[in-house]
Amino acid sequence: MDKYRISGGKALSGEISVSGSKNSALAILPASLLINGITRIKNVPNLKDVCYMLNVLESLGVKYSFSGSIVEIDTRTLSKYIADYDLIRKMRASIYVLSPLLHRFKKAEVSLPGGCAIGTRPVDLHIKGLKELGVEIELEHGYIEAKMTQMKGKEIYLDFPSVGATCQLMIAGVLAAGKTIIYNAAKEPEIEDLGKFLNSAGGQISGLGTNEISITGVDSLHETEFSVIPDRIETGSFTILGAALSKNLTVNNTIPHQIEALIEKLQESGAEITVSQNSIHIKKSGRPQGINVKTLPYPGFPTDLQAPLMAYLTVADGPSIINETIFENRFHHVPELNRLAADIKIEGQTAYIKGVPSLEGAPVMASDLRGGFALVLAGLIAESETIINRIYHIDRGYEELETKLQKIGADIIRIK
Ligand code: UD1
Repeated sequence: MDKYRISGGKALSGEISVSGSKNSALAILPASLLINGITRIKNVPNLKDVCYMLNVLESLGVKYSFSGSIVEIDTRTLSKYIADYDLIRKMRASIYVLSPLLHRFKKAEVSLPGGCAIGTRPVDLHIKGLKELGVEIELEHGYIEAKMTQMKGKEIYLDFPSVGATCQLMIAGVLAAGKTIIYNAAKEPEIEDLGKFLNSAGGQISGLGTNEISITGVDSLHETEFSVIPDRIETGSFTILGAALSKNLTVNNTIPHQIEALIEKLQESGAEITVSQNSIHIKKSGRPQGINVKTLPYPGFPTDLQAPLMAYLTVADGPSIINETIFENRFHHVPELNRLAADIKIEGQTAYIKGVPSLEGAPVMASDLRGGFALVLAGLIAESETIINRIYHIDRGYEELETKLQKIGADIIRIK
């Protein structure tokens, strides 16, 4: 298993570029199963999670090519309506194949994804919504067994603005008969991107980016070409890195307003940040001030940046409090940060961070994607050497991370 070796304590400067959005790609790739033909998707990040998703599609009979950042999917050979446990368990987003398979075959069998490191993460809202659209669903031996004659548009109220359920129901509603309205929908930019992709193929979806998404069903979708947005969580991760360590860092190829909640929090902590159309410029300004943060659905502070922000606040001048409201078990990075001499205590869903003057390098272990990035950041802040084990978690969501970081002056190498 690969590891990172980091020699920390170095100031970073220069320009760093953001790749395409992982979570957009993970919704758009399975949604392309709705199109009987060829879909060309650009700006796709070359990540483990994207490869898992392409494997899932391939297992269903689809042909694809992935060259540079362009994926071409040919669904004319789609032949299977069963998505096995071994494929789904690797990545929860594989559950998005459920609605397209239903539209293509009138039936689908998709393994339940199960829990994961950051929480139990049920899919009850996906299932409840699909049942409201007229799908018959049984849960048998760990599988969702679904069948239908035709989906019929309906008004659906989500108990929680779930990203996954909103994507699933948009993918379902676009080919349902009549009108589907999703109330209390999630507003994350990746959902807007999925909607724009579906509209580019002939879908009729409005209200994107609001909590009321309205879908007028169409008979079929046509072939299309689409470019995914830049990854806002990678943008946010690099912006935090800049606030922690940079003399002058520019994050390029991004949509700055999508991380407004983070920018405001970093400015509150004392970082100097200016924004231009597609770039963010950051300078560290002494030790950060302690701040309080609560994770919330978009446009609130993203749960995916909770761990990286915590790593930054470990060396704040004053205490910070982080309250995690989205996932019930998303503090696995805390004991590892404490191994690097941070002083963090957890009570329930809240982390109390007592800022310390500096961190010390140590061997640590990544246990999830964003927590893994938090350890990279902490390792870069720490004065001596840090070894990060299990970096396959980081490879799921950061494209060529060490290469990007080396270019801005970080001393980080991958040990094979
Ligand atoms: C997506 C993102 C993930 C991000 C999360 C929240 C992808 C591939 N992943 O995950 O990076 O951290 O949004 O912004 O886009 N829930 C239920 N029942 C459901 C669905 C969700 O109880 O049917 C709960 C979950 O357990 C969790 C919360 O709702 O506690 C949020 O989940 P959701 O917004 O659906 O996140 P994901 O789509 O899993």
